[in-house]
Amino acid sequence: MHSSTRDRLVVALDLPTPGEALAMAARLEGQVGMLKVGLELFCAAGPALVQELQSRAPVFLDLKFHDIPNTVKGALEAVLRLDPRLVNIHSQGGPHMMEAASEAVRAHRARGGQTELLAVTVLTSLDRESLARLGSPEEPGELALHLAKLAQECGCDGVVCSAKEAKAVREACGEGFHRLTPGIRPKGAAALDQARVVDPAQALRDGATWLVVGRPITQAADPSGVAAAILRDMEQAL
Ligand code: C5P
Repeated sequence: MHSSTRDRLVVALDLPTPGEALAMAARLEGQVGMLKVGLELFCAAGPALVQELQSRAPVFLDLKFHDIPNTVKGALEAVLRLDPRLVNIHSQGGPHMMEAASEAVRAHRARGGQTELLAVTVLTSLDRESLARLGSPEEPGELALHLAKLAQECGCDGVVCSAKEAKAVREACGEGFHRLTPGIRPKGAAALDQARVVDPAQALRDGATWLVVGRPITQAADPSGVAAAILRDMEQAL
């Protein structure tokens, strides 16, 4: 297996306790490029768990900050002390907030940090009807592309988007602007609550930089075996 393939697989550690998250990280060591820590686990276990996980693999801190520019900048400065591989914010916090966030991340990198900043475009849980009720008449895909271009203008390093939008984002923003895509399911796996799923090889062909896979790996009887099968599928596309 190519290390560049492994680097592109991100496993979502959506597990209820730090002990389970650490055990899963140990089982998957050497097979994943990044471990994703979301709000649930971070609120339960905090920065100490992130530090422990970083001895297994780089961490994507998926906290999706959304507040006024000064508050987001301060929150980012606090988590940047952990030097995670990736952090993220909501693009819908607006251009000034995204600029303040990218300023904090750029200053961190100037001091030798490695962190890159992604912007969430449109949550996949928001369909056309929800957006209309929020006062946005566009299709989710159109709004996502608009927000990706804005995120790039504001200094973000990439976006979180559906694999179905990755190609359009790559065309509009260029190869160097990252696309991190959840909603990935190996062929034949249950979609669970994800409405629009794409298989790993297809997501890479469609232009994803990183693939986020959670339950198909973490809920499997043999997580390491499923991760290996996903890596084989990804290799075919690369
Ligand atoms: O278990 P599953 O593979 O569906 O996990 C996907 C992960 O990606 C979860 O942590 C979920 O919160 C996250 N995510 C998502 N859709 C988004 C943004 C994040 O599924 N639009």
